[in-house]
Amino acid sequence: MKNRRLKVRRNDPCPCGSGKKYKRCCLHKENSKDIEADKELYFQKYSIRLKEEKDINGIRKAGRLALDTLDLVESQIRPGITTDDINTLVHDFTIKNGATPAPLNYRGFPKSVCVSVNEVICHGIPKERVFKDGDIVNVDVTPILNGYYADVNKTFFVGTPGPDAQKIVRVARECLKRGMAAVRSGNSIGDIGWAIQNYAEGQRCSVVREFVGHGVGFEFHEPPQVPHYGRKGEGLILIPGMVFTIEPMINLGKKDLNILDDNWTAVTRDGSLSAQFEQTILVTDNGFKSLTPFDL
Ligand code: MF3
Ligand code: CO
Ligand code: CO
Repeated sequence: MKNRRLKVRRNDPCPCGSGKKYKRCCLHKENSKDIEADKELYFQKYSIRLKEEKDINGIRKAGRLALDTLDLVESQIRPGITTDDINTLVHDFTIKNGATPAPLNYRGFPKSVCVSVNEVICHGIPKERVFKDGDIVNVDVTPILNGYYADVNKTFFVGTPGPDAQKIVRVARECLKRGMAAVRSGNSIGDIGWAIQNYAEGQRCSVVREFVGHGVGFEFHEPPQVPHYGRKGEGLILIPGMVFTIEPMINLGKKDLNILDDNWTAVTRDGSLSAQFEQTILVTDNGFKSLTPFDL
């Protein structure tokens, strides 16, 4: 426990002897010293690069473009179009807005967006698959704007969803909401995973283990990894300036997956539906801010 009596309060005389109030004197300097020390520590220990104001603004701008892209996609989704039509939309819109689609040629990924239908968990490669009424489709967009990455995805209904589709999309959405609510300075990475796993399994759904959230901003995938399962208090402690995604993949059946021969497409082994929502989250002093905000 901290000995609070040793702590200098904001309105106390400054310990440096200047005669000014602490808050008008060294408080600010010490805070910025602390921030510098944390930065150094998290980089040395975990290779985590904390983000500053200018970086956060850059990521937020990329995030706004990503959200506009998803809105455009949503307005066009209907039975009869193909996953490759989504790719064309996303690619052209990203370029038109002065950005680059991060997925294109990323570790050999051949397209500009991941489009994952029904039993596809993630990393669906756009091609000729035609949407039919009742499908669910996850669209995951990551633009690079002025060097900054923002990563966001949503699962949409095509036409009218059946009960299974409604259930898995509702549960996946709530999982992201609960994971985000566990983000605050002083909490651990495991608190996020626990919140998600506890809810998903309580709904008799399952959490995919092979893919996790990740640091993001300067690159597509940075440390730390953010599992969507785990135990309270496990893993590293969150501090302000960390930016990472939370992106739970939730299956209606079992958690196991297969990777198809294209080496990308992840599908549920039991063929059950899978849904996902993702946002890019900043840890703040008193909680979190989404840099890709949408209602959950
Ligand atoms: N956007 C995915 C994520 O949320 C990563 C896709 S990698 C790609 O982490 F190469 F498939 F695009
Ligand atoms: Co991501
Ligand atoms: Co993503």
